[in-house]
Amino acid sequence: MAATHHPDTRHAVYIETYGCQMNVRDTEMLSGILRHADCDIIDAPEMADLILLNTCAVRERAEQRVIGRVTQLSSLKKRRSVRIGVVGCMAQHLKESLLESLPDLDFILGPDTYRTLPEILKLDLSDRHADWSTNRSELYEGVPSYRHDGGPVAFVTAMRGCDMMCTFCVVPHTRGRERCRSWQDIVAETAKLMDEGVKEVVLLGQTVNAWQDGDMGFGSLLRKVSETGIPRIRFTSPHPLYYGEEEMRAIAECENICEAIHLPVQSGNTSVLERMNRRYTREEYLDIAHTIRRQIPHVTLSTDIIVGFPGETEAQFEDTLSLMEECAFDSGYLFKYSPRSGTRADREFEDDVPDDVKQRRLERVIELQTELTRRVQRAMVGGEYKILIDGIGNRGPNQLTGRTRGNRTVVIESAEELMGRMVQVIIEETGTWTLRGRLIG
Ligand code: SAH
Ligand code: F3S
Repeated sequence: MAATHHPDTRHAVYIETYGCQMNVRDTEMLSGILRHADCDIIDAPEMADLILLNTCAVRERAEQRVIGRVTQLSSLKKRRSVRIGVVGCMAQHLKESLLESLPDLDFILGPDTYRTLPEILKLDLSDRHADWSTNRSELYEGVPSYRHDGGPVAFVTAMRGCDMMCTFCVVPHTRGRERCRSWQDIVAETAKLMDEGVKEVVLLGQTVNAWQDGDMGFGSLLRKVSETGIPRIRFTSPHPLYYGEEEMRAIAECENICEAIHLPVQSGNTSVLERMNRRYTREEYLDIAHTIRRQIPHVTLSTDIIVGFPGETEAQFEDTLSLMEECAFDSGYLFKYSPRSGTRADREFEDDVPDDVKQRRLERVIELQTELTRRVQRAMVGGEYKILIDGIGNRGPNQLTGRTRGNRTVVIESAEELMGRMVQVIIEETGTWTLRGRLIG
Protein backbone atom coordinates (compact mmCIF):
# COMPACT_ATOMS: atom_id res chain seq x y z
CA MET A 1 0.00 0.00 0.00
CA ALA A 2 1.38 3.39 -0.91
CA ALA A 3 1.96 5.77 1.99
CA THR A 4 -0.25 8.83 1.94
CA HIS A 5 1.04 12.34 1.90
CA HIS A 6 0.34 14.55 4.94
CA PRO A 7 0.86 18.15 3.97
CA ASP A 8 0.69 19.37 7.56
CA THR A 9 3.41 17.21 9.05
CA ARG A 10 7.15 17.77 8.92
CA HIS A 11 8.93 16.61 5.80
CA ALA A 12 12.05 14.50 5.73
CA VAL A 13 14.58 15.64 3.15
CA TYR A 14 17.58 13.81 1.81
CA ILE A 15 20.17 15.78 -0.18
CA GLU A 16 23.07 14.49 -2.25
CA THR A 17 25.76 16.89 -3.43
CA TYR A 18 27.87 16.53 -6.56
CA GLY A 19 30.66 18.70 -7.92
CA CYS A 20 32.56 21.62 -6.49
CA GLN A 21 32.78 23.45 -3.17
CA MET A 22 30.19 25.97 -4.35
CA ASN A 23 27.69 23.14 -4.49
CA VAL A 24 28.66 22.02 -0.99
CA ARG A 25 27.99 25.58 0.13
CA ASP A 26 24.69 25.72 -1.79
CA THR A 27 23.58 22.48 -0.12
CA GLU A 28 24.03 24.20 3.27
CA MET A 29 21.71 26.89 2.01
CA LEU A 30 19.18 24.44 0.58
CA SER A 31 19.23 22.67 3.96
CA GLY A 32 18.75 25.96 5.79
CA ILE A 33 15.84 27.02 3.59
CA LEU A 34 14.12 23.65 4.02
CA ARG A 35 14.63 23.46 7.79
CA HIS A 36 13.08 26.90 7.97
CA ALA A 37 10.10 25.41 6.10
CA ASP A 38 9.54 22.64 8.68
CA CYS A 39 11.72 19.99 7.12
CA ASP A 40 14.24 17.67 8.76
CA ILE A 41 17.44 16.90 6.88
CA ILE A 42 18.11 13.17 7.07
CA ASP A 43 20.82 10.77 5.90
CA ALA A 44 18.64 7.94 4.55
CA PRO A 45 16.95 8.31 1.15
CA GLU A 46 14.55 5.43 1.99
CA MET A 47 13.01 7.54 4.78
CA ALA A 48 12.73 10.77 2.80
CA ASP A 49 9.68 12.35 1.25
CA LEU A 50 11.80 14.82 -0.65
CA ILE A 51 15.07 13.94 -2.37
CA LEU A 52 17.33 16.60 -3.87
CA LEU A 53 20.34 15.98 -6.04
CA ASN A 54 22.46 19.12 -6.15
CA THR A 55 24.33 18.63 -9.38
CA CYS A 56 27.33 19.52 -11.54
CA ALA A 57 27.40 19.89 -15.35
CA VAL A 58 31.09 20.46 -15.93
CA ARG A 59 31.72 17.09 -17.58
CA GLU A 60 29.40 14.57 -19.18
CA ARG A 61 30.39 11.86 -16.71
CA ALA A 62 29.06 13.96 -13.83
CA GLU A 63 25.69 14.22 -15.57
CA GLN A 64 25.54 10.52 -16.41
CA ARG A 65 26.12 9.61 -12.78
CA VAL A 66 23.16 11.74 -11.72
CA ILE A 67 20.88 10.28 -14.40
CA GLY A 68 21.78 6.80 -13.15
CA ARG A 69 21.16 7.89 -9.58
CA VAL A 70 17.70 9.34 -10.33
CA THR A 71 16.69 6.07 -11.99
CA GLN A 72 17.95 4.12 -9.00
CA LEU A 73 16.23 6.37 -6.44
CA SER A 74 12.95 6.34 -8.34
CA SER A 75 12.46 2.70 -7.29
CA LEU A 76 11.67 4.16 -3.84
CA LYS A 77 8.46 5.55 -5.33
CA LYS A 78 6.99 2.05 -5.32
CA ARG A 79 7.00 2.07 -1.54
CA ARG A 80 6.34 5.64 -0.48
CA SER A 81 5.33 8.99 -1.85
CA VAL A 82 8.55 10.77 -2.48
CA ARG A 83 9.41 13.67 -4.74
CA ILE A 84 12.74 13.68 -6.52
CA GLY A 85 14.34 16.89 -7.74
CA VAL A 86 17.51 17.74 -9.63
CA VAL A 87 18.81 21.18 -8.68
CA GLY A 88 21.89 23.16 -9.65
CA CYS A 89 24.04 23.27 -12.74
CA MET A 90 22.70 20.18 -14.49
CA ALA A 91 19.11 21.43 -14.16
CA GLN A 92 20.16 24.76 -15.65
CA HIS A 93 22.14 23.07 -18.42
CA LEU A 94 19.64 20.46 -19.59
CA LYS A 95 16.40 22.26 -18.72
CA GLU A 96 13.19 20.57 -19.90
CA SER A 97 15.04 17.81 -21.70
CA LEU A 98 15.98 16.44 -18.30
CA LEU A 99 12.31 16.18 -17.26
CA GLU A 100 11.50 14.66 -20.63
CA SER A 101 14.13 11.97 -20.38
CA LEU A 102 13.46 11.08 -16.74
CA PRO A 103 9.74 10.39 -16.19
CA ASP A 104 10.22 9.83 -12.44
CA LEU A 105 11.89 13.19 -11.92
CA ASP A 106 9.42 15.58 -10.25
CA PHE A 107 11.16 18.93 -10.53
CA ILE A 108 14.23 20.82 -11.58
CA LEU A 109 15.56 24.09 -10.16
CA GLY A 110 18.43 26.21 -11.46
CA PRO A 111 21.03 27.81 -9.14
CA ASP A 112 19.25 31.19 -8.98
CA THR A 113 15.85 29.80 -7.90
CA TYR A 114 16.51 28.23 -4.51
CA ARG A 115 14.39 30.72 -2.58
CA THR A 116 11.33 29.09 -4.18
CA LEU A 117 12.17 25.64 -2.82
CA PRO A 118 9.47 25.57 -0.09
CA GLU A 119 6.84 26.10 -2.81
CA ILE A 120 7.61 22.60 -4.11
CA LEU A 121 6.26 21.12 -0.89
CA LYS A 122 2.88 22.72 -1.56
CA LEU A 123 2.45 21.20 -5.01
CA ASP A 124 0.34 18.13 -5.66
CA LEU A 125 2.47 15.02 -5.70
CA SER A 126 1.60 14.42 -9.31
CA ASP A 127 2.66 17.93 -10.42
CA ARG A 128 5.91 18.40 -12.22
CA HIS A 129 7.76 21.66 -11.85
CA ALA A 130 10.65 23.42 -13.58
CA ASP A 131 12.32 26.74 -12.89
CA TRP A 132 15.56 27.78 -14.54
CA SER A 133 14.98 31.50 -14.40
CA THR A 134 18.08 33.57 -13.76
CA ASN A 135 18.60 36.51 -11.47
CA ARG A 136 21.78 38.48 -12.04
CA SER A 137 21.81 39.87 -8.53
CA GLU A 138 20.88 36.79 -6.51
CA LEU A 139 23.46 36.35 -3.76
CA TYR A 140 21.14 34.68 -1.24
CA GLU A 141 21.86 37.32 1.37
CA GLY A 142 19.85 36.69 4.54
CA VAL A 143 18.91 33.15 3.55
CA PRO A 144 19.22 30.62 6.39
CA SER A 145 21.99 28.08 6.21
CA TYR A 146 22.63 24.77 7.93
CA ARG A 147 25.98 23.02 8.12
CA HIS A 148 25.23 19.36 8.41
CA ASP A 149 28.62 18.25 9.74
CA GLY A 150 29.31 21.34 11.84
CA GLY A 151 33.04 20.76 11.23
CA PRO A 152 35.90 23.21 11.76
CA VAL A 153 36.20 24.20 8.07
CA ALA A 154 33.48 26.30 6.44
CA PHE A 155 32.91 27.71 2.97
CA VAL A 156 32.04 31.38 2.54
CA THR A 157 30.79 32.63 -0.82
CA ALA A 158 32.70 35.67 -2.05
CA MET A 159 31.09 35.75 -5.47
CA ARG A 160 28.68 33.74 -7.61
CA GLY A 161 28.69 33.20 -11.36
CA CYS A 162 31.51 33.69 -13.85
CA ASP A 163 32.16 36.18 -16.65
CA MET A 164 35.23 34.52 -18.12
CA MET A 165 33.69 32.46 -20.89
CA CYS A 166 36.42 29.87 -21.26
CA THR A 167 35.29 28.15 -24.44
CA PHE A 168 35.09 24.64 -22.91
CA CYS A 169 33.19 25.60 -19.79
CA VAL A 170 29.49 25.36 -19.05
CA VAL A 171 29.67 27.24 -15.73
CA PRO A 172 28.98 30.76 -17.09
CA HIS A 173 25.88 29.26 -18.75
CA THR A 174 24.66 27.48 -15.61
CA ARG A 175 25.65 29.88 -12.86
CA GLY A 176 25.20 33.08 -14.79
CA ARG A 177 26.95 36.41 -14.65
CA GLU A 178 29.48 37.30 -12.00
CA ARG A 179 28.18 39.04 -8.88
CA CYS A 180 30.11 39.85 -5.71
CA ARG A 181 29.00 39.96 -2.11
CA SER A 182 29.85 43.05 -0.09
CA TRP A 183 32.95 42.84 2.10
CA GLN A 184 30.81 43.55 5.14
CA ASP A 185 28.60 40.52 4.47
CA ILE A 186 31.63 38.27 3.96
CA VAL A 187 33.30 39.50 7.15
CA ALA A 188 30.07 39.23 9.16
CA GLU A 189 29.55 35.65 8.01
CA THR A 190 33.14 34.78 8.92
CA ALA A 191 32.71 36.28 12.38
CA LYS A 192 29.49 34.34 12.90
CA LEU A 193 31.14 31.09 11.84
CA MET A 194 33.97 31.77 14.30
CA ASP A 195 31.40 32.11 17.07
CA GLU A 196 30.11 28.69 16.06
CA GLY A 197 33.60 27.22 16.47
CA VAL A 198 34.80 27.32 12.88
CA LYS A 199 38.61 27.53 12.60
CA GLU A 200 39.09 27.87 8.86
CA VAL A 201 37.10 29.62 6.15
CA VAL A 202 37.49 29.04 2.43
CA LEU A 203 36.40 32.02 0.34
CA LEU A 204 34.68 30.79 -2.80
CA GLY A 205 34.30 32.14 -6.31
CA GLN A 206 34.81 30.83 -9.84
CA THR A 207 37.36 33.60 -10.31
CA VAL A 208 37.59 34.59 -6.67
CA ASN A 209 40.41 37.10 -7.12
CA ALA A 210 38.24 39.07 -9.56
CA TRP A 211 36.15 39.96 -6.50
CA GLN A 212 35.37 43.66 -6.22
CA ASP A 213 33.31 45.90 -3.99
CA GLY A 214 33.52 49.54 -5.06
CA ASP A 215 37.25 50.40 -5.07
CA MET A 216 38.09 47.38 -2.99
CA GLY A 217 39.84 44.46 -4.63
CA PHE A 218 40.52 40.92 -3.51
CA GLY A 219 43.73 41.78 -1.62
CA SER A 220 41.81 44.20 0.61
CA LEU A 221 39.08 41.62 1.13
CA LEU A 222 41.69 39.10 2.29
CA ARG A 223 43.00 41.64 4.80
CA LYS A 224 39.51 42.40 6.11
CA VAL A 225 38.78 38.71 6.60
CA SER A 226 42.22 38.28 8.18
CA GLU A 227 41.37 40.99 10.74
CA THR A 228 38.53 38.87 12.13
CA GLY A 229 41.28 36.76 13.72
CA ILE A 230 40.01 33.46 12.34
CA PRO A 231 42.94 31.01 12.61
CA ARG A 232 43.00 30.04 8.93
CA ILE A 233 41.84 31.47 5.62
CA ARG A 234 41.96 29.86 2.18
CA PHE A 235 40.35 30.81 -1.12
CA THR A 236 39.49 29.06 -4.38
CA SER A 237 39.97 29.58 -7.25
CA PRO A 238 41.91 32.60 -8.38
CA HIS A 239 42.27 33.17 -12.14
CA PRO A 240 45.76 33.97 -13.49
CA LEU A 241 44.37 37.01 -15.34
CA TYR A 242 43.41 38.70 -12.08
CA TYR A 243 46.66 37.92 -10.32
CA GLY A 244 47.52 41.01 -8.30
CA GLU A 245 50.40 42.33 -6.22
CA GLU A 246 48.03 43.41 -3.47
CA GLU A 247 46.63 39.91 -3.10
CA MET A 248 50.12 38.38 -2.99
CA ARG A 249 51.25 40.86 -0.34
CA ALA A 250 48.22 40.07 1.81
CA ILE A 251 48.98 36.34 1.63
CA ALA A 252 52.65 36.87 2.40
CA GLU A 253 51.99 39.27 5.28
CA CYS A 254 48.87 37.99 7.05
CA GLU A 255 49.72 35.13 9.35
CA ASN A 256 46.28 33.51 9.13
CA ILE A 257 46.09 33.37 5.31
CA CYS A 258 47.38 29.98 4.18
CA GLU A 259 50.06 30.09 1.50
CA ALA A 260 48.38 27.51 -0.73
CA ILE A 261 47.30 28.75 -4.12
CA HIS A 262 45.11 26.82 -6.53
CA LEU A 263 45.81 28.39 -9.90
CA PRO A 264 44.11 26.50 -12.76
CA VAL A 265 46.28 26.49 -15.90
CA GLN A 266 44.26 24.08 -18.13
CA SER A 267 47.04 23.75 -20.75
CA GLY A 268 50.74 24.53 -21.13
CA ASN A 269 50.48 25.54 -24.78
CA THR A 270 49.74 29.10 -25.84
CA SER A 271 47.72 28.26 -28.92
CA VAL A 272 45.54 25.80 -26.98
CA LEU A 273 45.11 28.43 -24.26
CA GLU A 274 44.04 30.90 -26.91
CA ARG A 275 41.41 28.51 -28.26
CA MET A 276 40.27 27.96 -24.70
CA ASN A 277 39.95 31.75 -24.31
CA ARG A 278 41.98 31.62 -21.12
CA ARG A 279 43.44 35.09 -21.83
CA TYR A 280 47.04 34.32 -20.86
CA THR A 281 49.98 32.70 -22.63
CA ARG A 282 52.21 29.92 -21.37
CA GLU A 283 54.90 32.50 -20.63
CA GLU A 284 52.52 34.76 -18.72
CA TYR A 285 51.33 31.88 -16.57
CA LEU A 286 54.89 30.78 -15.84
CA ASP A 287 55.81 34.32 -14.97
CA ILE A 288 52.94 34.52 -12.46
CA ALA A 289 53.82 31.12 -10.97
CA HIS A 290 57.47 32.15 -10.53
CA THR A 291 56.50 35.52 -9.05
CA ILE A 292 54.21 33.79 -6.56
CA ARG A 293 57.00 31.42 -5.54
CA ARG A 294 59.36 34.36 -5.09
CA GLN A 295 56.95 36.53 -3.14
CA ILE A 296 55.41 33.96 -0.86
CA PRO A 297 57.88 31.76 0.99
CA HIS A 298 56.84 28.08 1.30
CA VAL A 299 53.86 28.56 -1.01
CA THR A 300 52.24 25.48 -2.48
CA LEU A 301 50.74 25.63 -5.96
CA SER A 302 48.02 23.38 -7.32
CA THR A 303 46.18 23.43 -10.62
CA ASP A 304 43.51 22.10 -13.00
CA ILE A 305 44.45 20.57 -16.35
CA ILE A 306 42.41 19.49 -19.36
CA VAL A 307 43.94 17.07 -21.85
CA GLY A 308 42.64 16.37 -25.35
CA PHE A 309 41.10 19.78 -26.02
CA PRO A 310 40.04 20.01 -29.71
CA GLY A 311 43.07 20.22 -31.98
CA GLU A 312 45.59 19.46 -29.22
CA THR A 313 48.62 17.90 -30.96
CA GLU A 314 51.12 15.63 -29.28
CA ALA A 315 53.65 18.49 -29.17
CA GLN A 316 51.09 20.84 -27.61
CA PHE A 317 50.29 18.19 -25.02
CA GLU A 318 54.02 17.85 -24.25
CA ASP A 319 53.98 21.57 -23.41
CA THR A 320 51.50 20.81 -20.63
CA LEU A 321 53.86 18.18 -19.20
CA SER A 322 56.83 20.54 -19.27
CA LEU A 323 54.82 23.34 -17.66
CA MET A 324 53.74 21.00 -14.86
CA GLU A 325 57.40 20.15 -14.23
CA GLU A 326 58.44 23.76 -14.30
CA CYS A 327 55.72 24.85 -11.88
CA ALA A 328 56.32 21.80 -9.65
CA PHE A 329 52.64 21.67 -8.74
CA ASP A 330 51.87 20.10 -5.38
CA SER A 331 48.69 18.61 -6.72
CA GLY A 332 46.36 18.83 -9.67
CA TYR A 333 42.84 18.03 -10.80
CA LEU A 334 43.34 16.36 -14.14
CA PHE A 335 40.58 15.92 -16.72
CA LYS A 336 39.88 14.68 -20.23
CA TYR A 337 38.11 17.28 -22.34
CA SER A 338 34.37 16.66 -22.36
CA PRO A 339 32.32 18.62 -24.92
CA ARG A 340 29.44 20.55 -23.33
CA SER A 341 26.44 21.69 -25.31
CA GLY A 342 25.96 25.43 -25.32
CA THR A 343 29.68 26.21 -25.06
CA ARG A 344 31.72 27.91 -27.76
CA ALA A 345 34.21 25.03 -28.01
CA ASP A 346 31.35 22.64 -28.70
CA ARG A 347 29.99 24.91 -31.41
CA GLU A 348 33.22 25.90 -33.07
CA PHE A 349 35.64 22.99 -32.70
CA GLU A 350 35.40 19.35 -33.52
CA ASP A 351 36.12 17.01 -30.60
CA ASP A 352 38.85 15.46 -32.72
CA VAL A 353 41.23 13.91 -30.21
CA PRO A 354 40.23 10.23 -30.08
CA ASP A 355 39.30 8.89 -26.67
CA ASP A 356 42.20 6.45 -26.50
CA VAL A 357 44.59 9.35 -27.10
CA LYS A 358 42.84 11.44 -24.43
CA GLN A 359 43.07 8.50 -22.06
CA ARG A 360 46.78 8.03 -22.72
CA ARG A 361 47.43 11.74 -22.18
CA LEU A 362 45.41 11.66 -18.99
CA GLU A 363 47.44 8.74 -17.71
CA ARG A 364 50.65 10.60 -18.49
CA VAL A 365 49.63 13.74 -16.59
CA ILE A 366 48.45 11.60 -13.68
CA GLU A 367 51.78 9.78 -13.65
CA LEU A 368 53.73 13.02 -13.72
CA GLN A 369 51.59 14.68 -11.05
CA THR A 370 51.92 11.62 -8.82
CA GLU A 371 55.68 11.92 -9.12
CA LEU A 372 55.64 15.68 -8.43
CA THR A 373 53.41 15.17 -5.38
CA ARG A 374 55.68 12.40 -4.16
CA ARG A 375 58.68 14.74 -4.42
CA VAL A 376 56.93 17.43 -2.39
CA GLN A 377 55.82 14.93 0.24
CA ARG A 378 59.20 13.20 0.49
CA ALA A 379 60.81 16.55 1.23
CA MET A 380 58.36 16.99 4.11
CA VAL A 381 59.35 13.78 5.93
CA GLY A 382 61.13 14.57 9.18
CA GLY A 383 59.73 18.10 9.23
CA GLU A 384 57.42 19.59 11.84
CA TYR A 385 54.10 21.09 10.79
CA LYS A 386 51.07 22.61 12.42
CA ILE A 387 47.88 20.93 11.21
CA LEU A 388 44.21 21.68 11.78
CA ILE A 389 42.39 18.44 12.59
CA ASP A 390 39.36 18.40 10.32
CA GLY A 391 38.53 14.78 9.51
CA ILE A 392 38.40 11.16 10.56
CA GLY A 393 40.76 8.65 8.94
CA ASN A 394 39.29 5.56 7.35
CA ARG A 395 41.70 2.95 8.73
CA GLY A 396 41.31 2.27 12.39
CA PRO A 397 39.26 3.87 15.16
CA ASN A 398 41.81 6.39 16.40
CA GLN A 399 42.74 7.86 13.06
CA LEU A 400 42.33 11.56 12.48
CA THR A 401 43.27 13.70 9.52
CA GLY A 402 44.40 17.26 9.39
CA ARG A 403 45.84 19.68 6.88
CA THR A 404 49.02 21.69 6.81
CA ARG A 405 48.94 25.36 5.82
CA GLY A 406 50.05 24.15 2.39
CA ASN A 407 46.90 21.97 2.20
CA ARG A 408 48.66 18.59 2.45
CA THR A 409 46.66 15.97 4.33
CA VAL A 410 48.33 14.34 7.32
CA VAL A 411 46.97 11.22 9.01
CA ILE A 412 47.68 10.79 12.72
CA GLU A 413 46.70 8.34 15.45
CA SER A 414 45.22 9.76 18.61
CA ALA A 415 42.66 8.59 21.12
CA GLU A 416 42.12 12.19 22.19
CA GLU A 417 39.23 14.35 21.02
CA LEU A 418 41.16 16.67 18.73
CA MET A 419 38.60 17.66 16.07
CA GLY A 420 38.98 21.35 15.27
CA ARG A 421 42.24 21.63 17.20
CA MET A 422 45.49 22.96 15.80
CA VAL A 423 48.24 20.49 16.66
CA GLN A 424 51.96 20.15 16.01
CA VAL A 425 53.09 16.99 14.21
CA ILE A 426 56.27 15.48 12.86
CA ILE A 427 55.95 13.82 9.46
CA GLU A 428 57.13 10.21 9.66
CA GLU A 429 56.18 8.68 6.36
CA THR A 430 54.66 9.49 2.98
CA GLY A 431 52.01 7.65 0.99
CA THR A 432 50.91 8.66 -2.51
CA TRP A 433 48.48 11.42 -1.60
CA THR A 434 48.71 11.66 2.17
CA LEU A 435 51.36 11.89 4.84
CA ARG A 436 51.60 10.02 8.11
CA GLY A 437 52.48 12.06 11.16
CA ARG A 438 52.92 11.79 14.91
CA LEU A 439 51.74 14.29 17.50
CA ILE A 440 54.49 16.16 19.29
CA GLY A 441 54.59 18.77 22.02
N1 SAH B 1 36.82 28.67 -12.42
C1 SAH B 1 36.49 27.45 -11.74
C2 SAH B 1 36.51 26.27 -12.63
C3 SAH B 1 35.27 25.51 -12.52
S1 SAH B 1 35.23 24.07 -13.45
C4 SAH B 1 37.41 27.30 -10.58
O1 SAH B 1 38.62 27.36 -10.81
O2 SAH B 1 36.94 27.13 -9.48
C5 SAH B 1 36.50 23.13 -12.65
C6 SAH B 1 37.47 22.56 -13.61
O3 SAH B 1 36.83 21.62 -14.45
C7 SAH B 1 38.10 23.54 -14.58
O4 SAH B 1 39.15 24.25 -14.03
C8 SAH B 1 38.52 22.65 -15.72
O5 SAH B 1 39.82 22.14 -15.51
C9 SAH B 1 37.53 21.51 -15.66
N2 SAH B 1 36.58 21.59 -16.77
C10 SAH B 1 35.68 22.57 -17.03
N3 SAH B 1 35.00 22.31 -18.16
C11 SAH B 1 35.49 21.13 -18.64
C12 SAH B 1 35.20 20.34 -19.80
N4 SAH B 1 34.30 20.72 -20.69
N5 SAH B 1 35.89 19.18 -19.96
C13 SAH B 1 36.82 18.80 -19.05
N6 SAH B 1 37.14 19.51 -17.96
C14 SAH B 1 36.48 20.67 -17.75
FE1 F3S C 1 34.71 28.04 -16.22
FE2 F3S C 1 36.69 29.54 -17.00
FE3 F3S C 1 34.80 30.53 -15.40
S1 F3S C 1 36.86 27.43 -16.28
S2 F3S C 1 34.07 28.79 -14.27
S3 F3S C 1 34.55 29.88 -17.48
S4 F3S C 1 37.02 30.90 -15.29
